[in-house]
Amino acid sequence: MSALALLGGPRAVPAGVDGGPWPVVTAEDEQAVLNVLRGGRLTSTAAGETEVPALERAWADQVGTAHCVAVSSGTAALQIALGALGIGPGDEVVVPALTMNATAHAVRQCGGVPVFSDIEPDTFTMDPARARDALGPRTAAVLPVHLHGLPAGMGALLEVASRRGLPVVEDAAQAHGAAWRGTATGALGALGCFSLHPSKNLPTCGEGGLVTTDSASLYRAAVALRNFGERPPARTRSYLAHRPGLNARIGPVQAAFTRSQLARLPAYAKAREHAVVAFLDRLDRLPGLRVPYVPADRTHAWHIVRLRIVPEELDLAGVPPAAVRRALHRVLRAEGVPVSQYQVAPLPAHPAFRGETSLEQVAATHPVSCATVDGTLCLQRRHLGPNAAAALAAYADGFEKVWEHLGLVRRMARAQPARDWRHDVAGD
Ligand SMILES: Cc1ncc(COP(=O)(O)O)c(C=O)c1O
Repeated sequence: MSALALLGGPRAVPAGVDGGPWPVVTAEDEQAVLNVLRGGRLTSTAAGETEVPALERAWADQVGTAHCVAVSSGTAALQIALGALGIGPGDEVVVPALTMNATAHAVRQCGGVPVFSDIEPDTFTMDPARARDALGPRTAAVLPVHLHGLPAGMGALLEVASRRGLPVVEDAAQAHGAAWRGTATGALGALGCFSLHPSKNLPTCGEGGLVTTDSASLYRAAVALRNFGERPPARTRSYLAHRPGLNARIGPVQAAFTRSQLARLPAYAKAREHAVVAFLDRLDRLPGLRVPYVPADRTHAWHIVRLRIVPEELDLAGVPPAAVRRALHRVLRAEGVPVSQYQVAPLPAHPAFRGETSLEQVAATHPVSCATVDGTLCLQRRHLGPNAAAALAAYADGFEKVWEHLGLVRRMARAQPARDWRHDVAGD
């Protein structure tokens, strides 16, 4: 048993083993971008521009919806989807308490009010029972997030929404290619919203997003909202604004790059599934560590891998989960395992969304989100590339090594100050 790297021993993960670059940029991607630059149509409104419509057609076909609207970011996709539904001042939209802040920002940017609903402990996605409790007379939509790439429990969520006649907007920013009961994310609600940020499973070079829908009227509304409320010109652009709108257009360079990437999305997803499952099979044998649960009716896009720590199984009953997480974080990182915290606080605790609510109230109303923030570690980005299997095997070596030294981890965890996520919010 070699000494822990934290104490001067050799690292379990050799320097330079990191899963490779993400996004992977091939000669085809470069050529696609070069073609746009040489063609001279550098904006989607240039006469004869075909890259943006080609990406929209390809993504609609991939998801299985009638329409797709390519936009400037995932946040813009959400804002446009909500705007297309007519969400406006005073309308409430139910969002999960654990997600990236853009989900709630988009609601606010429409003038709406995000109402937070706690998540399920095993899937980390919106809890349908809590979502039902969050409905009120002003609720105008339900906005589940397929967090980490796992589809939310859409059966129960669609039922909760449909009983009240409410539309469901999917935040699928992290879930390209995932499916629920065989239907792709983005084709499950009234509208689906994807991010093309370079960190995402389907990246662009720069920023971008995609909105999917089967509805012709929502499609027309989204197209107008993307471009100053104008209608798509039959010939020359009139610049007549028919409704409120913004400039949320994607550029042809970004569209061409993503369409080139899209050709490799299924192969990359397959390689990722294989490598991540092999990694999780090894971690699953370690006591005190819970690997992600994937219900039988869904496939996971593995955008982020979240691991839950169970202090009791590590003989650390009574030690705050955040203290155990911090100790493990430090020891694993020293070994070269790039674990990280994804989201340091539940969304209702962010100063931007908290209003008069105290952190204690957030803790009382969203206990699962709080426990998740405190008691989990994540793997991000390093596992996305098609050649990540070797790095993941080395990360598993790192976990196994640390688990041979749990005595030190226990001592470190017990010596940590008893702070939870509230300390991070208050101190930021
Ligand atoms: C769940 C979720 N929703 C929305 C977004 C926003 O996407 P973008 O960064 O493209 O605006 C992100 C991006 O990280 C996200 O993870």
